[in-house]
Amino acid sequence: MRAPYTESEYVCSPLASRADHPSSDRPTVATVDLNALTHNYREVARRIGDRKVLAVVKAQAYGHGAIPVSRRLVELGIHMLGVALVEEGRDLRDAGITAPILVMAPVFPGQAEVIVSAKLTPVVYTLAMTRALSDVAAGTGRTLGVHVKIDTGMGRIGLSPEEAVDFIAAVGKLPGLAVEGLMTHFADADLRDKAFARAQMDRFESLIRSLEAKGITIPLRHAANSAAVLEYDRALLTMVRPGLMLYGYNPLESGVGADLRPVLSLVTRIAFVKRVPAGVPISYGRTFVTKRESLIATIPLGYADGYSRGLSNKGEAIVRGVRVPVAGRVCMDMTMLDVTDVPGVAEGDEVVLIGAQENERITADDIAARTGTIAYEVLCGISGRVPRIII
Ligand SMILES: Cc1ncc(COP(=O)(O)O)c(C=O)c1O
Repeated sequence: MRAPYTESEYVCSPLASRADHPSSDRPTVATVDLNALTHNYREVARRIGDRKVLAVVKAQAYGHGAIPVSRRLVELGIHMLGVALVEEGRDLRDAGITAPILVMAPVFPGQAEVIVSAKLTPVVYTLAMTRALSDVAAGTGRTLGVHVKIDTGMGRIGLSPEEAVDFIAAVGKLPGLAVEGLMTHFADADLRDKAFARAQMDRFESLIRSLEAKGITIPLRHAANSAAVLEYDRALLTMVRPGLMLYGYNPLESGVGADLRPVLSLVTRIAFVKRVPAGVPISYGRTFVTKRESLIATIPLGYADGYSRGLSNKGEAIVRGVRVPVAGRVCMDMTMLDVTDVPGVAEGDEVVLIGAQENERITADDIAARTGTIAYEVLCGISGRVPRIII
């Protein structure tokens, strides 16, 4: 088995910001509009009455930048932040964020000390891990809140509802721990047909009743991701757990029912324009060959920035208000566009890959549809070397 990484090997790259590279003139940036985030948060708040919100900011707030996004959400009054990794939680603490933080992905016994010292709230579902947390917490004299994860049908992590009553009773006896939350996660609440989500809720609610019959009431009971916040009121319980809708995207199959504003735009500028005759190949593999005399623009952005190679000959961008196609394969650091039909096109022109310009708009959903994925992956995939500009 490989030895753990040493400090010198372990390089965790944060998202770049302009401040990190003050002399860089590279124009490729992701802008993050915190007013749009505020608007989307209000859409969540409008739907949930006086229930609490856990805002999901894992994976750098779905690529938007976890620190600025979390700061704004805390100002807006969310109760809790949700991260996947202990490291993500600790980065938020290092940035001075004091709101409760739930670590939703698996944690490991070696991380118990960081969890306790950073005052993170772990999700638990095995006795071994829970005991490790209890040992550390009890040693510091602190009480560590934990949330118990129930697998009602997602098949990922968590206890079955049948195992949960005994587990929770056992955790209640461990020193240094308090069960403050009970949670489950939906497999397909985004579908129009809510039959499976209903079955998951039946199991979760039946567990809540069994616990109450034993005199155990867990204050934070939560299940609702964005899809359930938008379309499944029964799942709202005492706290909701939206991610995607905060960033302005609607995960529902039906696509209906919410006024959401995309928070992130991905923009660059034309680095080079050339006029070429018909019959000229463009980019690796010569998969695009000009059919007429053409203007080909090169932009300084490629798959290393998270602009998927799957967009080769499929993607579109907006230049001077005109939608233009990607010409040939997306390279690691550059992409070519056929800008023949853009009047007056010139080097230095702004190019929008995600976002709006004049009357045109390209969304992460549009990109996802062309590359066979989901908006989540498009947003998270915008790489750390693209500076995030917070508006
Ligand atoms: C446990 C958990 N809760 C909530 C969410 C938020 O989901 P969504 O972004 O669909 O709102 C996620 C995201 O994948 C998750 O893993």
